[in-house]
Amino acid sequence: MAKFLVACVVVAVALFGLIQASDLILGTVNPGDRILYSQVTAAPGIPGGLVSRNVNYSGIYNITAIRAYDRTLNRTGQAHMTGGGLYQRYVYLALQTRFVGNALDYLVEIYGR
Ligand SMILES: *[C@@H]1O[C@H](CO)[C@@H](O)[C@H](O)[C@H]1NC(C)=O
Ligand SMILES: *[C@@H]1O[C@H](CO)[C@@H](O)[C@H](O)[C@H]1NC(C)=O
Ligand SMILES: *[C@@H]1O[C@H](CO)[C@@H](O)[C@H](O)[C@H]1NC(C)=O
Repeated sequence: MAKFLVACVVVAVALFGLIQASDLILGTVNPGDRILYSQVTAAPGIPGGLVSRNVNYSGIYNITAIRAYDRTLNRTGQAHMTGGGLYQRYVYLALQTRFVGNALDYLVEIYGR
């Protein structure tokens, strides 16, 4: 019984990780931070292919929080930072699908001060 419970917890945590993996959440949004960027990046799926898009932001404020929310219903995207980031003035994000033929749909928000 205990083993079964442990197995359930492990599976639940793994599933949770899988679901979470679609979103990229970095830093915290504090009072006084302004929203520097808020835009949807979407692309239709292509048969037999993986879709990807870059979001390259650069500005004059220090970035305090980065959010990329996967808006696809089955959460098949993945988001990585490829340059810049928190406490810098620019960030490069790579958004891509994890499954062939799936569409890409991200809401990217960048906060700073
Ligand atoms: C950004 O951070 C740097 C280093 O912490 C600081 O010197 C600079 O004043 C900050 N710029 C803004 C716009 O807050
Ligand atoms: C996700 O949903 C889309 C649209 O319903 C579907 O075409 C696609 O096959 C699904 N992907 C996976 C990996 O289930
Ligand atoms: C965005 O940055 C990446 C490097 O991370 C670069 O390969 C790509 O060409 C850039 N795209 C644009 C539109 O500037």
